[in-house]
Amino acid sequence: MLGQRQLILASNRGPVEYHSTADGRHEARRGSGGVVTALNSLTHIAEFTWVAGAMSEGDRKVWDEARGTPLRSPLPGHRVNLRFVVTPRRVYHKFYNVFCNPLLWFLQHYMWNSPYNPNIDAAVHDAWEDGYVPVNQAFAQAIVDQAQGNPSVVMLHDYHLYLAPAMVRQAVPEAIIQHFVHIPWPASRYWQLLPSYMLEGICYGLCSADIVGFQTPNDVRNFLDTCEAVLPDVEVDYETQAVHCKGRRTSVRTYPISINVEEIRRISCSPRALEYEKRLQPMCNEMTIMRVDRAEPSKNVVRGFRSFDLLLTRYPELRGRVTFLAFLVPSRTHIRQYQRYMEEIQQIIAQINTTHGTEDWTPVVTYLENNYTQAIAGMKLYDVLLVNSVIDGMNLVAKEGPVVNTRDGVLILSMGTGAHRQLREGAISVSPADIEGTMQAMYQALTMEGDERARRAACLRETVEQQDNIHWLESQLQDIQDLLL
Ligand code: G6P
Repeated sequence: MLGQRQLILASNRGPVEYHSTADGRHEARRGSGGVVTALNSLTHIAEFTWVAGAMSEGDRKVWDEARGTPLRSPLPGHRVNLRFVVTPRRVYHKFYNVFCNPLLWFLQHYMWNSPYNPNIDAAVHDAWEDGYVPVNQAFAQAIVDQAQGNPSVVMLHDYHLYLAPAMVRQAVPEAIIQHFVHIPWPASRYWQLLPSYMLEGICYGLCSADIVGFQTPNDVRNFLDTCEAVLPDVEVDYETQAVHCKGRRTSVRTYPISINVEEIRRISCSPRALEYEKRLQPMCNEMTIMRVDRAEPSKNVVRGFRSFDLLLTRYPELRGRVTFLAFLVPSRTHIRQYQRYMEEIQQIIAQINTTHGTEDWTPVVTYLENNYTQAIAGMKLYDVLLVNSVIDGMNLVAKEGPVVNTRDGVLILSMGTGAHRQLREGAISVSPADIEGTMQAMYQALTMEGDERARRAACLRETVEQQDNIHWLESQLQDIQDLLL
């Protein structure tokens, strides 16, 4: 597909995580997270090497025993070789828990209250110097070791690895490098809250790739603007969407990520999912609202519950007849802001259940665990799916729900999600801060006529089926292929 070139993929989380068992063995499990889910389909299309951070003790041990030779993934059907990147825990902590998530993730999701935060103090400068830079170097080194002078195509993923393209380019100038950014790219003025040497490093890093991919045209525009505003020696071509920098041309493209429709349907019909479905059915009510998210501030979970609280107050006839099932996955639990957000979620759930609940009706039922099959089984049963993120690169739940749901459920979708561009025709759109409007959207969804529900559900299903993640991967591979001609 890519001629004689080998394919190397790199992302912070990999497709396999090893867990050490009591008897000293290492058990392989599928890695978690949205990026892994999206890229897993590639393991069935092409043979390649996946470079990923060692997440668990098991990963470190397995890699140590491999002595630098890539491991064949033990998962069935996976044609992928694994290379783990091991960095000192202290360095990885600064990378992940100080720089990537509290800083970059917050910045790129407009999550700062800018008059007050962030405060970029010595600890953050140190996390760049002694966390972000060395982890990117370690990833780049692993990629270079794998390339070993062979013609290679390198596909890097997400905000963890903005510097690596420049480092790989320096060592392997002829490599084809693509970087895909899964999360939003904010406006240049917001980016400029970062110290300029960091921002320049990030932009130069990305402009060392041949192609930079984003989820939406808005992200593409913002990236072009940021390069123009930040880099002194570049030329930005808005018409062909390219940046010319240091004698190199970087194409900036839109590839809206999607889901593997077939695989999700297969999971939804698996014996495990059917078992979960049977257990979840009694938890549903005459009408069921649902959400599936990481417990993450940008997902806007608390405002979603405020709207539900308001709904039960404003329309008392719904009390006892509607239940909210929330599947929430604990996330980034070492970071203070996430711990606090989780507490706020639990407080509002307790408040709603105390205020409105009765002996035989609990208005909000929560599942706090990372159980993908259970969530997929749950989504077969909703009447209303709430996706009200403040801002979201894409949001795959909004695509997964409509393809497994069996009840012509209605999707309430935030205008801040990347998915909104593709799905707005079938969804009810909400502005994420509008608690009143979200409450009215819930009422509209719960009282919608059957034929209108069916029309919208079919529209959502068809849109997702037409542009699944095989389409997402193939359009990127096609653009890479064009560079090789
Ligand atoms: C979500 C985002 C991805 C990101 C990932 C990191 O899935 O959509 O873009 O890479 O979070 O999550 P993690 O759990 O690894 O911090």
